Amino acid sequence: MNGKTVLITGGTGGIGRAAAIGLATMGARVGITGRDRTRAEAAAAVIVRESGNPAVDVFVADMSSQAEVRRLANEVLAAYPRLDVLLNNVGGFWAHRHETVDGLEHTFALNHLAPFLLTSLLLDRLKASAPARVVTVSSGAQSMGKIDFDDLMGERKYSGQTAYNQSKLANVVFTYELARRLEGTGVTATSLHPGMTSTAFSAEDPALGLLVAVMRPFMKSPARGAETPIYLASSPEAEGVSGKYFANRKARKSHASSYDIASAARLWKVSADLVGLPAGAPR
Ligand SMILES: NC(=O)c1ccc[n+]([C@@H]2O[C@H](COP(=O)([O-])OP(=O)(O)OC[C@H]3O[C@@H](n4cnc5c(N)ncnc54)[C@H](OP(=O)(O)O)[C@@H]3O)[C@@H](O)[C@H]2O)c1
Repeated sequence: MNGKTVLITGGTGGIGRAAAIGLATMGARVGITGRDRTRAEAAAAVIVRESGNPAVDVFVADMSSQAEVRRLANEVLAAYPRLDVLLNNVGGFWAHRHETVDGLEHTFALNHLAPFLLTSLLLDRLKASAPARVVTVSSGAQSMGKIDFDDLMGERKYSGQTAYNQSKLANVVFTYELARRLEGTGVTATSLHPGMTSTAFSAEDPALGLLVAVMRPFMKSPARGAETPIYLASSPEAEGVSGKYFANRKARKSHASSYDIASAARLWKVSADLVGLPAGAPR
């Protein structure tokens, strides 16, 4: 990864920080994002110390806000003349329904619309840096997901699990549609399940607290949870691989509905409308 630049969203802890340590150890310049500068700089210091690589940059943005995602993209474009890997890792679980500053349901906005918008805004830079990779962290929860086009924001009925499952299925559907749109550009798009990993996941709305406490002894360490994202971001075997979903570094089948091209085009169009971008033509 010497000479390569990687941007990892949500690199202040958990799987993102572990992926940053792994990729920085391989020689990449790594940019991490987080909401709080002090926390992000503390994480960057850990990444530098553990990897022995001083080329670690910090970007601060609350990605639940579209204005902040746009500002983040502009700062990244100004800082990085090339971008070889975008690792969309930020994500969370909210047992209770919240709305973002844009008036959108938080889970859908942060887990799906934020990577959709950030990727779209960085796409020309990724294409100009080809071969390049977009890797999006989904979850095994995608297999229980349903994209509910009649109630995407859980306005009629909200359950944290249903919203999370939907957002993680959306990550996979987005990845497959992105891969189709990127054919022939040298930029690949893959998605993955990291495995149940012991992190701060769901700590902001701790309704899962008891379940997480019971499961924690059986969870992976963040370093192990980061293995598949690191593999997809860096390995020669993953070079040129696109439009696939992985777990434990192996391609796996995702939810049957994720292969529905019409539904993927519809999600793309709805997402583009929600973030104020032109939808472009599906392929
Ligand atoms: N842990 C698991 O078992 C598991 C299983 C399957 C999938 N996943 C997926 O793996 C990804 C990483 O999860 P994790 O377990 O590592 O979670 P985590 O420990 O909670 O880390 C989440 C990261 O996202 C950042 N973040 C959260 N809200 C943000 C916001 N509004 N704006 C910007 N950054 C924000 C956090 O940074 P700050 O708090 O510093 O801002 C932190 O760096 C998620 O997409 C999750 O869905 C996790």
